[in-house]
Amino acid sequence: MKDKVVLITGGTSGLGAATAKAFAAQQARVVFCGRRAEQGKALEAAIRAEKLEATFIQADVTIEQQVEQLVSETIRLYGCIDVAFNNAGANLYTGPLEQMSSEQFIDTVNLHLTGTFHALKYEIQAMKQTGGSIINTASIAGVKGVGQGIAAYVAAKHGIIGLTKAAALEQARNQLRINALVVGAIQTEQWLQRVSAQPGMFEKIAAAMPTGKIATMEDIIPMITFLATDASAFITGAALAIDGGITAG
Ligand SMILES: NC(=O)c1ccc[n+]([C@@H]2O[C@H](COP(=O)([O-])OP(=O)(O)OC[C@H]3O[C@@H](n4cnc5c(N)ncnc54)[C@H](OP(=O)(O)O)[C@@H]3O)[C@@H](O)[C@H]2O)c1
Repeated sequence: MKDKVVLITGGTSGLGAATAKAFAAQQARVVFCGRRAEQGKALEAAIRAEKLEATFIQADVTIEQQVEQLVSETIRLYGCIDVAFNNAGANLYTGPLEQMSSEQFIDTVNLHLTGTFHALKYEIQAMKQTGGSIINTASIAGVKGVGQGIAAYVAAKHGIIGLTKAAALEQARNQLRINALVVGAIQTEQWLQRVSAQPGMFEKIAAAMPTGKIATMEDIIPMITFLATDASAFITGAALAIDGGITAG
């Protein structure tokens, strides 16, 4: 990854932040966004303190103009984008579909699906001449129904996989590869905070996993690195499961 330019959306915490650190540690030049400036600036400083390269740009992926600026600022800084990791997301609402308001549904779809569309649109414009790799964070909820009151999230994550496949076919002749990650529960800070608030929940979730284990971010990052490099040169339009076997049955 030395000197590769990597753009990450949703890099201020969780999987995006861990990926920003991992790519920077591999000598990549990392640009990442999120809405929280304090977290973004703190991560930027922590990476730079290691004499590595990272730049935080505040941007909300639901606002097209901010995504356009994020991409154009990255190009202004480095002249190109080699790898994009479209990862911004959150499970905004939990509750039965019949009680969900249109606003709650639209907000969720807007964040995940429209946000990924905005990122893809400007990244493709920037990358189609040079080629590269784009990785979108989907979920196991993007390939199967999850009946835990997260219907809007399920619909949006299915949409991300559809968008990934269509965009991959459009860009296949440009050496621009576009893939999606199918991930299950990951032990990010926020996930751990939520789960540890309910005694016994961590053990219950782990017991329900085929492997008996819940993914750590270190379990996921090697796949992101693999998709970012030429080692995966013949993989495009794929929804790749790194889920400890959850979607196997
Ligand atoms: N953790 C899991 O168990 C799990 C499972 C399956 C899929 N995923 C997916 O993995 C991705 C990362 O989640 P995570 O677990 O790492 O959660 P996280 O720690 O909450 O990180 C989410 C990131 O997305 C950013 N974000 C949220 N809304 C945004 C917006 N409108 N514009 C720009 N950035 C935005 C957040 O930054 P700001 O708040 O600063 O904007 C943050 O950097 C998400 O797409 C999520 O759906 C996670």
